[in-house]
Amino acid sequence: MKRILNTGCLGSTGANLVDRLISTSEVTVLDDLSSGRLSSVGQHMANPKFKLFEGSVLDQLKTNEEVAGAR
Ligand SMILES: NC(=O)c1ccc[n+]([C@@H]2O[C@H](COP(=O)([O-])OP(=O)(O)OC[C@H]3O[C@@H](n4cnc5c(N)ncnc54)[C@H](O)[C@@H]3O)[C@@H](O)[C@H]2O)c1
Repeated sequence: MKRILNTGCLGSTGANLVDRLISTSEVTVLDDLSSGRLSSVGQHMANPKFKLFEGSVLDQLKTNEEVAGAR
């Protein structure tokens, strides 16, 4: 199964992508919550194929550690 990293997933574009991708892929998402809403992916929270990390894509070390393995 594909593993996908989706940044900014709590916004309009990212949340729609999660909806599309989760049926065929493991989706790891990274969002700093600066404008996004957790409710935009609420329906996926209990899905074991879905992982959400709070952080900025500008924090390279945190990004590397938390999303290792996703592409
Ligand atoms: N009409 C439609 O169907 C439709 C579809 C998609 C988007 N849009 C519109 O397009 C515009 C852009 O949408 P969008 O999804 O690209 O942007 P957005 O602003 O909706 O979402 C951006 C996301 O990125 C996050 N983010 C910002 N900086 C970050 C960082 N450094 N690290 C991690 N996460 C970070 C924010 O918290 C947010 O969740 C919006 O106005 C949206 O309403 C409309």
